[in-house]
Amino acid sequence: MTEHATRNDPLLTFRSEFPILERSTYLVSNSLGAMPRGVPDRLAEYVDQWAELGVRAWANGWWEMPVRVGDEIAPLIGAAAGEIAMLPNVTIAQTSVLSALDYSAGRDTIVMTELDFPSVRYVYDGLATRLGARVVVVSSEDGIGIDTQRVLDAIDERTRLVAISHVLFQSAYIMDAAAICARAKEVGALVSLDAFHSVGVIPVDVKALGVDFLSGGVLKWLCGGPGGAFLYVSPEASRALAPSFTGWQAHAHPFAFAPEMEYAEHAWRWLNGTPPIPALFAAIEGPRIVRRAGIDAIRAKSIRQTTRLIELADARGHRVTAPRDARVRGGTVAFDVPHAYGVAQALLANGVIVDYRPNAGIRIGPHFYTTDDEIERAVGSIDDILRDETWRAYEHTRSTVT
Ligand SMILES: Cc1ncc(COP(=O)(O)O)c(C=O)c1O
Repeated sequence: MTEHATRNDPLLTFRSEFPILERSTYLVSNSLGAMPRGVPDRLAEYVDQWAELGVRAWANGWWEMPVRVGDEIAPLIGAAAGEIAMLPNVTIAQTSVLSALDYSAGRDTIVMTELDFPSVRYVYDGLATRLGARVVVVSSEDGIGIDTQRVLDAIDERTRLVAISHVLFQSAYIMDAAAICARAKEVGALVSLDAFHSVGVIPVDVKALGVDFLSGGVLKWLCGGPGGAFLYVSPEASRALAPSFTGWQAHAHPFAFAPEMEYAEHAWRWLNGTPPIPALFAAIEGPRIVRRAGIDAIRAKSIRQTTRLIELADARGHRVTAPRDARVRGGTVAFDVPHAYGVAQALLANGVIVDYRPNAGIRIGPHFYTTDDEIERAVGSIDDILRDETWRAYEHTRSTVT
């Protein structure tokens, strides 16, 4: 990056941390964030410890990693050390939450929305129903957002849990989590936020929200790779509740191998079996860089670049499937272009990395390391592909990006 470019946009100094940016136009941080340059060293540390220490590596810090790596994420969500447990994925984190509550008559509903991530819905529809809960699904009027008032109206004295996305995965619509948490508190319900699309790209403060549970993954906006998901549980909820979907790592004395469960305190009680150590090594660098970059600067840049993307789409008459109001728009802009699937594949073949979703179109997720020029070029490439009909060659090919 030239000195001039980084003076105008200091976040571009972080580009050198991400090797893939030298080789492609990487606009898919909404799916998999770029790998930090420091990750191979971290993974080499893991390999060395396994090779040299063998089983002694567990006592050399491996057992503590699920909570220590969680501490790296804590400052990004306003949590304290010891309040976050790393788990393999968000589906498991949500299952833990679900399993910690009882759904007795009169307190048996779970409020979700039509636009929550399907994996989470599958668990709630299946397991929650077996546990005696009833899932109330709030619908969307436009397929982009969910009217806050509709969610508030669905929360009442029968509600046990409100389990919704903080930012909707398809449209990047930001839900009014503060209003929802306040309403839940009024009626004595708990709130579990799926923050996969918020942490790392918009400011999140669990204490200001008063949220009980917040889960997300490091692989998208936190550039921490697959296998690292996190679950924050408020100290009050951790004191009052314990998950029945559990395991020996949640025990106060796991190595006593006692037949009876005695839950550990704080984040430890939300663990289950043996942690995915390589994924935890890989997960350390990304959140550190995001912290150095600063979430307020990241958000300001994200608003600028997503606004520009919408301007570019509007100028071409593409249907935008993202909120137009920046205050309720997260980090991704999706727009539908003719032959969107084929166009997305042609972009990928040209080194412009984006993804495609049915009903949403081409999704573009710039991040703090994205240049303005990359955004202009990506949209320019779409123009070229539509003009010279290169999309035809890709229309029936299998996507290289899921
Ligand atoms: C909002 C949201 N929740 C959950 C997931 C995935 O969850 P898991 O970590 O279980 O794969 C995604 C993945 O894209 C997501 O966007």
